[in-house]
Amino acid sequence: MSESRDFWQDAMDHAVAVARKSGEMIRAAVQNQDRSSLVQTKSSAVDLVTETDQKVEQLIIQSVKRKFPTHRFIGEESVSSGEPCVLSLDPTWIIDPIDGTTNFVHGFPFVGVCIGFAVNQQVEWGVVYSAIEDKMYTGRKGRGAFCDGRPLQVSTQTDVHKVIVATEFGSDRNPDVVDKIFRSLRKVLTLPVHGVRGAGSAALNMCSVALGSVELYYETGIHVWDVAAASVIVTEAGGVLLDTTGGAVDLMSRRIVAANNKTIATRIIEQLEVYSPERDDRLPE
Ligand code: IPD
Repeated sequence: MSESRDFWQDAMDHAVAVARKSGEMIRAAVQNQDRSSLVQTKSSAVDLVTETDQKVEQLIIQSVKRKFPTHRFIGEESVSSGEPCVLSLDPTWIIDPIDGTTNFVHGFPFVGVCIGFAVNQQVEWGVVYSAIEDKMYTGRKGRGAFCDGRPLQVSTQTDVHKVIVATEFGSDRNPDVVDKIFRSLRKVLTLPVHGVRGAGSAALNMCSVALGSVELYYETGIHVWDVAAASVIVTEAGGVLLDTTGGAVDLMSRRIVAANNKTIATRIIEQLEVYSPERDDRLPE
């Protein structure tokens, strides 16, 4: 079957529908107080996964497979259980069933169902559903970014002393990494900036940049599934994506800066220490 750009719209509409369904599952788990059922840890003692993460990822993958049987997947929980993290040229769904699992476990109300779609290794569209807030963020290359149908536009601020910066502490508790995070944060805070925030979800931080309420988000240690969907929402809202080195962003590198413009990005990047966690697409040993 030849898969045209309109075909990608079908895929995006499907993603919006399945993200809403996933949100129902997440809200039901919150209401039934079973959000911490079967909490396990992954790469570190504070990198959490729950039964709901696994169930939501399966719901999304199974429903997409029925409609688009030839497409490929990169899913957070599938990769954790040993599947390769490969972005080929084929249509690929990049899924984080619950971005903000720690928030979910603790009842902190910012969790995003993230579904990105890449073709030829380029993210074509992204859907981020803020499940507790019931807000649907969407972005498609060349067609704009929206929240519940309302067009999104990044902040026009160019004075770094008047911005809000979002970042996260991640789940790596290696003291050297924590020191690097704090040295960077100290430099950002003392520029000074108006404030530093963190929603506990990389994707929702990026949606805040697209909304214009936060000027910049940076983090080292994120994964491709945390940021792929939101990446196109940021760029379609007029924002820029960069690496923490200031170079081009590489979604597998585990480093990202999402900003309202290059002026703000450059001033914040100057404050950041660059380090390199193991890439998402590293070859298995
Ligand atoms: C995490 C969240 C968190 C960020 C971590 C991510 P998860 O994703 O986005 O805010 O600091 O780097 O891994 O594990 O909840 O999907």
